[in-house]
Amino acid sequence: MKALVLAGGAGTRLRPITYTSAKQLVPVANKPILFYGLEQIRDAGVTDVGIIVGDTHEEIEAAVGDGSALGIRATYIKQDAPLGLAHAVLTAAEFLGDDDFVMFLGDNLIEGGITGVVEAFERDRPAAQLLLKRVPDPQRFGIAVLNEDGSISRLVEKPADPPSDLALVGVYLFTSAILDAARRIEPSWRGELEITDAIQQLIDDGASVRASEVEGWWLDTGKKDELLDANRIVLGAIKRRIDGTCDETSTVTGEVIIEAGAELHGTTVRGPVVIGAGSKLVDAYVGPFTSVGPGCLLESCEIEFSVLLAGCTVRDIGRLEGSLLGREVTLERTVRRPAVHRVMLGDHAQVEIAKG
Ligand code: DAU
Repeated sequence: MKALVLAGGAGTRLRPITYTSAKQLVPVANKPILFYGLEQIRDAGVTDVGIIVGDTHEEIEAAVGDGSALGIRATYIKQDAPLGLAHAVLTAAEFLGDDDFVMFLGDNLIEGGITGVVEAFERDRPAAQLLLKRVPDPQRFGIAVLNEDGSISRLVEKPADPPSDLALVGVYLFTSAILDAARRIEPSWRGELEITDAIQQLIDDGASVRASEVEGWWLDTGKKDELLDANRIVLGAIKRRIDGTCDETSTVTGEVIIEAGAELHGTTVRGPVVIGAGSKLVDAYVGPFTSVGPGCLLESCEIEFSVLLAGCTVRDIGRLEGSLLGREVTLERTVRRPAVHRVMLGDHAQVEIAKG
């Protein structure tokens, strides 16, 4: 059994963060989203992992390397353009050979890992085994319609008028039959070779396609609020570990990770929170569900339910909540005149300034 992890594509929905970096490397609890999937694949006993990469291949390769630090053997497969999930499978045909494989979308996070579903697939070897989850916004996903006996009747990608609320989770198990099916489909209305259409071919062929509902949480971290939610859920499971230093005027309560080299002075932290290596917090408050990346400076400010990437400076700005700051963002109050808001914001940036 092999794994195929999709880390190509364009991260349009997480712009501007993903103008300069791969969306699969945006951190959740200070660890790239992609690493959670790779660890779950390894934990399921699969170590031969093909990683589909696109324009951001250098960054992905720099982060994952040969995979040994994560306990896998990584093979990079370059996809020239993000022409769809089934196109990614076809691009990996040589790597996959005739082997069974688990396909994992690099921006998906699922609770509890994939060991159970991999074991079930290996026992029965259907042509495809899918994971489903009920969602409130089925227009955004591939959707499954089930027969009365629970088998799949049909699949439809991002329907305007959804026939059900059962979304396809971004983890799929396949035999090599999917390659032949993917060769027989045409691009969809959005110009992509859809994996849903390839699986529909298998269903039409009369092949065995199974599905089970995911019990735990599943997050497709495409947008800011989903990312903050993923961060909240993952932080909810961390255990206290203080490797940095806290002076006697600082208070750290609950499940908090403070990485080595981080320093707290006159600061209150209420977990769950993670503070990255080398960050400095002075007269600050950091509240629940916040990840502060490495090398940040927080001074005279309050931050809660937020994600700060590496190297941010936040100083004297009152309270920040529900926010996502990219790398090396500076947010500070100044005494310069005229007393106005003065900003340099990247394309697609969003700023909300509180009234009053
Ligand atoms: O998240 C689950 C959903 O993922 C499913 O419900 C849908 O059926 C499935 O089509 C997919 O929809 P998305 O529109 O969310 O897929 P997205 O374009 O975000 O791509 C998913 C991952 O695959 C992402 O990490 C980028 C990567 N990718 C995507 C394409 C289109 C590639 O590596 N190559 C590609 O050609």
